[in-house]
Amino acid sequence: MFPSDFAWGAATAAYQIEGGWQADGKGPSIWDTFCHEEGRVQTGDVACNSYELWEKDLQCIRQLGLTHYRLSLSWARLLPDGTTGNVNQKGVQYYNKVIDDLLAWEISPMVTLYHFDLPQALQDRGGWKASCIAGLFDSYARFCFQTFGDRVKLWLTINEPYVCAKLGHEDGVHAPGLKEPGTAAYVVGHNMLRAHARAWHSYNSLYRLKQGGAVSLALNSDWFEPLRPNHDADVAAVDRSLAFTLGWFAWPLFVTGDYPHTMRAAIGAQNKKLGYDGNPRLPTFSKDEPPVLGTADFFALNYYTSRKVKHGCVSELGMCMKRDREAEEVLDPDWSICGAPWLAVVPGGLRKLLNYIKDTFRNPVVYITENGFCQAGPLVMEDAQRGHFYKETIQEVEKAIGEDGVDVRGYFVWSLIDNFEWADGFDLRFGLFHVDFSHVERRRTIYRSGLEYARIISKYKELASK
Ligand code: GAL
Repeated sequence: MFPSDFAWGAATAAYQIEGGWQADGKGPSIWDTFCHEEGRVQTGDVACNSYELWEKDLQCIRQLGLTHYRLSLSWARLLPDGTTGNVNQKGVQYYNKVIDDLLAWEISPMVTLYHFDLPQALQDRGGWKASCIAGLFDSYARFCFQTFGDRVKLWLTINEPYVCAKLGHEDGVHAPGLKEPGTAAYVVGHNMLRAHARAWHSYNSLYRLKQGGAVSLALNSDWFEPLRPNHDADVAAVDRSLAFTLGWFAWPLFVTGDYPHTMRAAIGAQNKKLGYDGNPRLPTFSKDEPPVLGTADFFALNYYTSRKVKHGCVSELGMCMKRDREAEEVLDPDWSICGAPWLAVVPGGLRKLLNYIKDTFRNPVVYITENGFCQAGPLVMEDAQRGHFYKETIQEVEKAIGEDGVDVRGYFVWSLIDNFEWADGFDLRFGLFHVDFSHVERRRTIYRSGLEYARIISKYKELASK
């Protein structure tokens, strides 16, 4: 049984659905720049055109019977040059309408301030690698709390700092496309934590009393298990894998105010092996800045998949995060794979990860802010396998609450509608609704799995009301 106020949601992000990349005074973001680089084929210039077709999204949300909708704000739509010196009123109007329409239907918005799309003007000033980004983000966050906080009660400052840092600054496969292995990602992650903490402190001191909301940030993690449970080296590799993904951010926020010792030790060991004695790669938190510890009002988890892990032989690699982590990921042949090669379908991993979070991070309130399953290749509207996946996953969440005592308050499917899946463009379809990208109207049609999710929601709502 789920509590009667359980949040049943679905999620999207501005760049992935809105389009209108130059509409009504919006400034460019790093994803606009990245997708317009030569050689790239797909862009989010139009995407689902939710900037013009928001009412269609609202219909989808209503058809599912969602209680909550998670969306992100485009920083560059609100503040075209990234600063509060120049506010784009058309952007403010757009999000006001979205929020007001949701509330008119008694659907609560959960709002992400930053979902991968930094204003290009701020990238030109050093982006997330520059220390000053924390103050700039804080001003943007205050502007959003001030403008929308009378109606928005669930805030996420940053979506998946791990992904922004690693895929954007180490691997170069996400905007801004930097490949600076072993250094930049740690700096970016650090600045994201500093930025988040400043925004949380602003909310806490200036808005909490009046607005009564809660602020966190969304952390992604796979669940990891040792490939050979009796090998100490594999068990230690699992420890490092968790430390380098979830722990990297959750440890400073929930446990010590600093990075996990496992992470510091692993990086230190590789520095030694490589003979590196330059600037510390993993920064330290300054005592003169607002503390990071305690700045998450709930735990927001994005979970997709699981991995078996074995101790990795990495001596051939230069300085990089993979070498620091020294763990090789292996797929269990029993796991089925859905549309994306990385997405092994392991609903049971979610329950285990929820238990790990409960035990490691002091039994926090948890929202599952993303979870999903995609298809690629020929379109399948009758996607029974995906419907089954939602059913099974939600049963795992139910057991985590009922049998294990994890304090889960909400579940959000990624995603409401098919959209621009970053480096994979429109080829991966994560939606509960199909979107026809070949037509200007971008018609939305519910998948069978969308109907299944709607059925699940209505069943649990009914049970909870008895
Ligand atoms: C997450 C991301 C989403 C979505 C999802 C599916 O990492 O936050 O924007 O793309 O993955 O891959």
